[in-house]
Amino acid sequence: MIALACDHTGLQLKEEMKKMLDGMGLEWKDFGTNESVSCDYPVYGYRAAKAVADGECDRGILICGTGIGIGIAASKVKGVRVCTCSDVYSAELSKRHNNSNILTMGARVVGVDLAKMIAFHWLTAEFEGGRHQRRVDMLTAIENGEEL
Ligand code: RB5
Repeated sequence: MIALACDHTGLQLKEEMKKMLDGMGLEWKDFGTNESVSCDYPVYGYRAAKAVADGECDRGILICGTGIGIGIAASKVKGVRVCTCSDVYSAELSKRHNNSNILTMGARVVGVDLAKMIAFHWLTAEFEGGRHQRRVDMLTAIENGEEL
């Protein structure tokens, strides 16, 4: 299950993500917003990130104007590893090396076709484990207030 969320700037791109996920046979859940009126991205970033952290959703794709604000909001939720991407290489490597579980994109930064390519590569990439697992465990340790 993929958590989807956006602010008012990301409505159209979020709909494109739904179509793409449908085409890939992946289920999604929409955490809003679904209105074009100006709204606050932390609300929707938090709701979707919480669903990922709680295990209700496996991963999330979140959209705001730059992808940054909603990414910062999602990052505040324990257990979430956000990648904010506007290129395919970073998106794929963020999964293979960082085991990112939330992808954020900027609707005012990337076009629809590029966003679809980014999301597709992120969704289909696999975490490589090994030395990368050790580093991801360190990220969790930081999150838990441990010293490295
Ligand atoms: C909204 O104007 C914009 O600030 C928001 O979508 C996002 O880009 C924030 O990071």
